[in-house]
Amino acid sequence: MSVGMNVGMEVKNLQMHFGGIVVADDINLTLKPGDRKALIGPNGAGKTTFANLLTGNLTPTGGSIHLDGQNIAHLRESQRVKAGVAKTFQITTLFKKMSVRENIRLPILERTGLGTKMFKKAEAYPEVEAEVEQMMTQFNLRAHADIEVHELAYGQQRLVELALTLALKPRILILDEPSAGVAASDSHMITDAIERLPKDLSVLIIEHDMKLVFKVANKIIVLVNGAILCEGTPAEIGKNQQVRDLYLGARHDT
Ligand SMILES: Nc1ncnc2c1ncn2[C@@H]1O[C@H](COP(=O)(O)OP(=O)(O)O)[C@@H](O)[C@H]1O
Ligand SMILES: [Mg+2]
Repeated sequence: MSVGMNVGMEVKNLQMHFGGIVVADDINLTLKPGDRKALIGPNGAGKTTFANLLTGNLTPTGGSIHLDGQNIAHLRESQRVKAGVAKTFQITTLFKKMSVRENIRLPILERTGLGTKMFKKAEAYPEVEAEVEQMMTQFNLRAHADIEVHELAYGQQRLVELALTLALKPRILILDEPSAGVAASDSHMITDAIERLPKDLSVLIIEHDMKLVFKVANKIIVLVNGAILCEGTPAEIGKNQQVRDLYLGARHDT
């Protein structure tokens, strides 16, 4: 497979242990352009660890992560972002006293290299402003463009996070619990935003909200004790008795 082909991500025999504790146990997974995969499993299964292994927040103790044919398993997080792998920013990284527009402008200036130019106003680049507008439209944030982020509902703050991450133009997007902390009445905002992501993006969603998972994912991977128990379509996973007993039973009525 030659470098540069848009074939997505291929994780092979990924291993992670903290001392004697195995948290990623020989994980194999592919993310192709357009994939919408969900990773589910009980607390402590190793989902967040797996996300951190993909982004470079953690370095695996074994196995490989290929992106378009190149092994990125030992690249630092910033290098993986450049290669096209991104995880959503956390709300804590939003500039709460700045407006939605000002927040979204920052990663675009950063990506395009315009942010470092001195003596020029941040809003002086029409191509940047056009992209900011487009992002706000995509995430239903236009009405809140000039509102400071701390004044938004939590669900809308999560949309700003998503917009910031998308501004980096990743090809692999990892969402770790996108609906965590969002009021049930607002969770449709998150679902809608995921459904409006660019079609050719590869998306891995780690999520406890099974309504969201079954709505947006076309494949579900079940992780238990650091190992993949099974992978299947929502219909297959929904009727898998072992998954229901271990995890789904109490959460999802099919
Ligand atoms: N830095 C760390 N050092 C030691 N153990 C860790 C570390 N990070 C996570 N773990 C352990 O790895 C396991 C998986 O955790 P985590 O990936 O957060 O699971 P999940 O996101 O599925 O709830 C847990 O047993 C947790 O205690
Ligand atoms: Mg977690």
